[in-house]
Amino acid sequence: MPYSPFSTVESAPPDPILGLTENFRNDPNPKKINLTSGVYQDETGVNPVLKSVKQAERIWLETETTKDYLGIGGEASYAETVQKFVFGADHPIVTGRRAVTAHTPGGTGALRVAGDFLHGQFPGAAIWVSDPTWPNHHGVFKSAGMQVNTYPYYDPESRGLRFEALMAALEAVPENDVVLLHSCCHNPTGVDPTPEQWDRIIEVFQQRPILPLLDFAYQGFGKGLEADSYAVRAFGSAGLEMIVSSSFSKNFGMYRERVGALTVVAGDSTAATAVMTRLKQAIRANYSNPPSHGGNVVEMVIRNKELHALWEQELDEMRNRIQGMRHLFVETLKKCGVRRDFDFLLRQNGMFSFSGIMKAEVVELRETYGIYLVENGRINVAGMTKANMEYLCQSIAAVLKD
Ligand code: LMR
Repeated sequence: MPYSPFSTVESAPPDPILGLTENFRNDPNPKKINLTSGVYQDETGVNPVLKSVKQAERIWLETETTKDYLGIGGEASYAETVQKFVFGADHPIVTGRRAVTAHTPGGTGALRVAGDFLHGQFPGAAIWVSDPTWPNHHGVFKSAGMQVNTYPYYDPESRGLRFEALMAALEAVPENDVVLLHSCCHNPTGVDPTPEQWDRIIEVFQQRPILPLLDFAYQGFGKGLEADSYAVRAFGSAGLEMIVSSSFSKNFGMYRERVGALTVVAGDSTAATAVMTRLKQAIRANYSNPPSHGGNVVEMVIRNKELHALWEQELDEMRNRIQGMRHLFVETLKKCGVRRDFDFLLRQNGMFSFSGIMKAEVVELRETYGIYLVENGRINVAGMTKANMEYLCQSIAAVLKD
């Protein structure tokens, strides 16, 4: 018998989000609707390449001079661009050189590098994530060797934040642990702290030796670029050391180009420089150095005045379309006779809504109507269009039992 180690491998369960996207692609139902992964779709149900991105790509195609490797952490100009974008150009973190930034393959790449760095430097530290959170937070940090714990976040009764429980949990997180917070557009609930609540959260971090890690994947999709930066900038202004993971998949529509960044804010520039050497060590052992294309395009769009103006307009259009769909969805559900209250959708931010649709109903929507939601009831509102709304709401009306 030849050696056959793979015959013992058992299949893994499908990914709770991207696994469903694969099933959706294979579904022959002509009326199918994809409300699974957090990908923006326009009014025609297509994920568009932004005009600003297309123009930058054309320029880049003409001006690129080499295919040599990027440095392990990417280009210094990219790091500077990202820091100014995240914190604002004149923020003391940027001017005081307290931060270092690595160009990473997407936000997920940034989180994994953060996990490897944290586990390497602070092997006993656990990471605390919200209950619920993006399922891949568990996967990424466990794969990096970290213990993952949860803190209370979402209240299914009020469809809002369990703020006092969250505060009590932060007070009880063991010293030297890491707490992951979604800086805006909480995934999956769409429920964010208010600026006043962020200020109170920050006070706990000022008083306790626990490290904030802000996952910043949806900058610009909530209330706008400035408003969505409130938490990150307030943490920065409070003088705290912290980690920020940025994704440009959503706000630049660069999903498949895998473009993101990991920023670590240290106490001073000497510590920041040492941290960068450790980030590079983690990156080198992981994927060696980042892919160049997406980062160059994002950098060009941010730095070029005309492209930047066009991009902001396109970002506003995406955000406003999603808001419009929230309103139309709530109205159309009522028109279709749904008695369950969905008005809370109008208070949530970003692409997602935690709809409260139960697992059995989600399965029926998928199997009978070709409508795909994540099994925890998360809906990607950006997958709704005027054209699919009637069918979507009629199907939900048929499936809901109350
Ligand atoms: C999502 O939550 O749907 C997105 O962040 C896509 C992903 O990678 O899961």
